[in-house]
Amino acid sequence: MASQREQYLEAIGIDLWVPRQWPVAPAAPAATPVLAAPAAAAWQALRDEVGACTKCALHATRTQAVFGVGDQQAEWLVIGEAPGAEEDRRGEPFVGRAGQLLDSMLRAIGLARGANVYIANVLKSRPPANRDPRPDEVTACLPYLLRQVALIRPKVILAVGRIAAQNLLATDAPLARLRGRVHRFGELDTPLVVTYHPAYLLRSPGEKRKAWEDLKLARSVLARGGA
Ligand code: URA
Repeated sequence: MASQREQYLEAIGIDLWVPRQWPVAPAAPAATPVLAAPAAAAWQALRDEVGACTKCALHATRTQAVFGVGDQQAEWLVIGEAPGAEEDRRGEPFVGRAGQLLDSMLRAIGLARGANVYIANVLKSRPPANRDPRPDEVTACLPYLLRQVALIRPKVILAVGRIAAQNLLATDAPLARLRGRVHRFGELDTPLVVTYHPAYLLRSPGEKRKAWEDLKLARSVLARGGA
């Protein structure tokens, strides 16, 4: 039974946070919780739409759409830019070298792909030769991501890389100015933290320390119940 304090906090709309131990070694991926039928249907409809999408020219050059992967009820949502060659081939985000580094970064804060985090991109189709997404492509694709956010209802979003951050926050500010503070995203006002893209960290490993600061910032948001 909830204590009087808990009842009070709940009554005034303050989320209760049950502390976890950090960092925790990821256990074997937990079984994904069973979704209520309407949510499962909404996910399937969205996945089908994305798979068949021809709203921008990228559909003509992609091998397949890269929808997203992970726990559909995760507290953490990681958003990157767009699939690269390996992701386009395998149909899963962040599976190349940068993806392996992303997995290590997530592991450091107790997250494991497929268990307690959802990973998606702003664009679901690979831009040829890994060029930057074009504004019309982002405009066409962003509604799919917004629907994913609405279904997941994450407590924190981690935007990885300049392109993801700028498109999500509708700004052209440089990444250095977007890091280090908590932004808000979308209709649910979800806290959003910006960090470096793992591909950049592979080229500039000296910046990994700053990425760790970003992860700790995102973790602290969650610890405060998303405030
Ligand atoms: N870079 C991204 O931003 N997303 C991917 O899925 C892979 C590489």
